[in-house]
Amino acid sequence: PVEAKIAPSMLSSDFANLASEAERMVSFGADWLHMDIMIDVDMQDGHFVPNLTIGAPVIESLRKHTKAYLDCHLMVTNPIDYVDQLGKAGASGFTFHVEVSKDNWHELVKRIKSKGMRPGVALKPGTPVEEVFPLVEGENPVEMVLVMTVEPGFGGQKFMPDTMKKVRTLREKYPTLDIEVDGGLGPSTIDIAAAAGANCIVAGSSVFGAPEPAQVISLLRTSVNK
Ligand code: DX5
Ligand code: ZN
Repeated sequence: PVEAKIAPSMLSSDFANLASEAERMVSFGADWLHMDIMIDVDMQDGHFVPNLTIGAPVIESLRKHTKAYLDCHLMVTNPIDYVDQLGKAGASGFTFHVEVSKDNWHELVKRIKSKGMRPGVALKPGTPVEEVFPLVEGENPVEMVLVMTVEPGFGGQKFMPDTMKKVRTLREKYPTLDIEVDGGLGPSTIDIAAAAGANCIVAGSSVFGAPEPAQVISLLRTSVNK
């Protein structure tokens, strides 16, 4: 079975104390730190998400305080524009959205790898799973698929169980692929996600909002490994 990776979403952390929040999550047993990079700028092709969070300068600052795997999720319309700067900043994973990379994903994946990062592809709840098959199978494959379990943009939303069909399809087709789920994951939804085949678990509000985040992290891991 594929290894569990528990990734607290730093979007739910206290951004003014990012270094200590990161250290706290690592000490609580986090494998990865999930970093949500969103840009709500009306560029060529419009808004991707109605929110604005962090970018490469913040990743670069955080990297000076932690060795943790920084799992960067790019909710932007032109991910290729950020590959070089995120690589230089010390990002570990670079996950872009399939909805915005139709034509240039070959080039994008190559560039991500050449900057020493691990490429992943994400899909929104309404995007058919077939769209990522070529990216997983190509000669320059991505190493992770992120199935969004809420509409991207904000933490604290409700898990959408319908998205589990996509996770099941991916797991049947690709037994060793890293499959990440993101949005509304916590003690009450982890079992359905784990049973469908997800192994990388992003959790923001359920971890940061818990009285004992370490317990939630360990429960998420136990569910994946069961
Ligand atoms: C939403 C982000 C998520 C978010 C998850 O667009 O991609 O990573 O932080 O937060 P929770 O776990 O609270 O749904
Ligand atoms: Zn995310």
